[in-house]
Amino acid sequence: MLLKVVQMAVLSKSKGDNTIMDRLKNAARLMVVSDLDHTMVDHHDPENFSLLRFNTLWEAIYRNDSLLVFSTGRSPTLYKQLRKEKPMITPDITIMSVGTEITYGPSMVPDDGWVEVLNQKWDRKIVTEEASKFPELTLQSETEQRPHKVSFYVDKNKAETVTKQLSEIFQNRGLDIKIIYSGGMDLDILPQGAGKGQALAYLLKKFKTEGKLPTSTLVCGDSGNDAELFSIPDVYGVMVGSVDST
Ligand code: GLC
Ligand code: MG
Repeated sequence: MLLKVVQMAVLSKSKGDNTIMDRLKNAARLMVVSDLDHTMVDHHDPENFSLLRFNTLWEAIYRNDSLLVFSTGRSPTLYKQLRKEKPMITPDITIMSVGTEITYGPSMVPDDGWVEVLNQKWDRKIVTEEASKFPELTLQSETEQRPHKVSFYVDKNKAETVTKQLSEIFQNRGLDIKIIYSGGMDLDILPQGAGKGQALAYLLKKFKTEGKLPTSTLVCGDSGNDAELFSIPDVYGVMVGSVDST
């Protein structure tokens, strides 16, 4: 299935997609699944020293037989903006919008199977309708509102109470919802089956079905929406500490 999706991309798109297809023919030696902001990308490093070092290492030692997966809370719009600001290499798989969008290759071919999974017990209209009744919640920009992600800002000291109240309301309305709080400000409402961890579990299951489970998987992240990455069985993890003490 994974190969099929990528094959379709290759038929219609660039040479770059050929390379990812070659790599997906065999199990990867290593699959790195990394968050971007404050993990892969250090916003306090104007010279991009660490990022450039990683890029060189990846291209020299891993590119041929390993898979690079970016996993970000950013929507496709903000992800593409970051790519313009920072010298990032192109990953094999891009997971965006807190694990609600999975795409393959440089052409970013969407995984439609994942969309079907996320449609279960999800009703975006009810989510926005109920959440809009909370004055504590401020809607994030339009670009960050996605088909399976509704995002707000909320004060640190109000987040817990709001999360509890919202969860009860959604449960009463028959929805199966996940609420994630990150970075002391961002509150994301997603289908229960979504999130960065679930997106990774979905990919691993696909690879396993095809007999191509990566030999090792390494997850890297620093904030709330990364937490579930570390609960996926049989993966190694790097939890990035904050450089600011705030
Ligand atoms: C990114 C997204 C934002 C989300 C946050 C935490 O910053 O742009 O919408 O709330 O990640 O997941
Ligand atoms: Mg981060």
